[in-house]
Amino acid sequence: MINKKVEKALNNQVIIEAASSQAYLAMASWAECNGLNGIAMFLYEHSDEERQHMLKLVKFINERGGKAIIPQLNQPTNTFKGVRDIFTSLLSHEINVTKEIHEVVDVCLKEKDYTTHNFMQWFVSEQIEEEALARNIMDKIELIGNDKGGLYLFDRDLEKLSSVTNNDSV
Ligand code: FEO
Repeated sequence: MINKKVEKALNNQVIIEAASSQAYLAMASWAECNGLNGIAMFLYEHSDEERQHMLKLVKFINERGGKAIIPQLNQPTNTFKGVRDIFTSLLSHEINVTKEIHEVVDVCLKEKDYTTHNFMQWFVSEQIEEEALARNIMDKIELIGNDKGGLYLFDRDLEKLSSVTNNDSV
């Protein structure tokens, strides 16, 4: 039977991943409404990934004899000042997710739950990639500045990045 403190920490992470999925879905929708189809595609995909992270946790909790709680969520931010605003928010969101993942790992160690600790290592690695990707995107946004042509190319780049990932997952 799963340790109750670990179960609680994992269920808290379910909320965080679900909220991330909703937050990125709102960003995707905003980008789509503003003619930024590549950025929208990238963010829709990112939102799907967060849902997969949530599902991974839900299934693990249940498999270990715990009870996953599917949460109610607050409405995410739906309006943004622009592309920089979106990706600044995405990066700080991911930094916070990393912090929360580390909290779960901490609970696993305190409770000597090495099975869940092992399971959580996938999330630890995933966060390294997600933060690196978000930082890379922010660097590109800084380079573009207010250049509209640059934004157009950036949008196309993200579209290509999304279609590569989509093709990989087929
Ligand atoms: Fe599942 Fe982007 O954290």
